Amino acid sequence: MKTEGVRESASGLDPLAALHGRLLNVSRMATIGEMAAGVAHELNQPLTAIANYAHACERLLARPGSDPAEVREALRQIAAQTTRAADIIRRLRALSRSQQAEHTPVAVNALVEELAELMRTDASLHGVELSLELSPGLPPVSADAGQIQQVVLNFLRNSLEALSAQPSVGPKVAVSTSLADGNGVELTVCDNGPGLSADTAGRVFDPFFSTKENGTGLGLAISSTIARAHGGTVGYRANSPRGACFYIVIPTQADG
Ligand SMILES: Nc1ncnc2c1ncn2[C@@H]1O[C@H](COP(=O)(O)OP(=O)(O)OP(=O)(O)O)[C@@H](O)[C@H]1O
Ligand SMILES: [Mg+2]
Repeated sequence: MKTEGVRESASGLDPLAALHGRLLNVSRMATIGEMAAGVAHELNQPLTAIANYAHACERLLARPGSDPAEVREALRQIAAQTTRAADIIRRLRALSRSQQAEHTPVAVNALVEELAELMRTDASLHGVELSLELSPGLPPVSADAGQIQQVVLNFLRNSLEALSAQPSVGPKVAVSTSLADGNGVELTVCDNGPGLSADTAGRVFDPFFSTKENGTGLGLAISSTIARAHGGTVGYRANSPRGACFYIVIPTQADG
């Protein structure tokens, strides 16, 4: 992590803490800038398709005796492409919100408990058993609670989607908290789904990488940006005996 050196020496020194804040902001802006080029490209595809299908509709309707089924298919494509563009924009809102992040002392377990009911409902709709394993006595972290919850929900959603895509006996997701090695609190979501191949494992945090027909591929990229805005990290490890674990590590308050 590029800003780590500054973080270490920042404790108690206001000018350095301010510098740290500015550096975080710069790295956040850089990520958004990097993503903007990709976003422009990704949005251009559905928009071009929408324009083409709209022109096709016009031509079909101008032709005497044209087939309504053809017009219907073109309209269906327009609706589908619009949904895709809207999905991309919806995911990016979370990222632009991270610009005005409010960092306050946060008890990570409380933040997970607040989500428990929502997560249970979501899991049971997918026929998945959800368990929470919250370590007691964790130190508070300095964070934007809503954004950390967003990351947990992104991880959970991916697990539920992975489990639904490959139905198995006894699908399970575990959300856990623990003290991370070194400084920080780790929040982990593990499932017993298909997991990741070595090839995909290296790419899942890239913006727009998705193996899903209707995925924007932004869930994990945004989670990674949120982690970095907190001076933290996200990562993946294989679950045992099978499945995926995604985690976020947030530095404890004393570091920041
Ligand atoms: N728990 C998991 N098990 C298996 N594969 C996963 C898991 N989580 C993520 N992935 C893989 O990582 C890819 C990227 O995930 P990400 O959340 O960034 O995008 P997405 O889920 O495809 O799209 P979106 O989040 O916009 O719906 C997924 O398409 C999937 O291939
Ligand atoms: Mg996702």
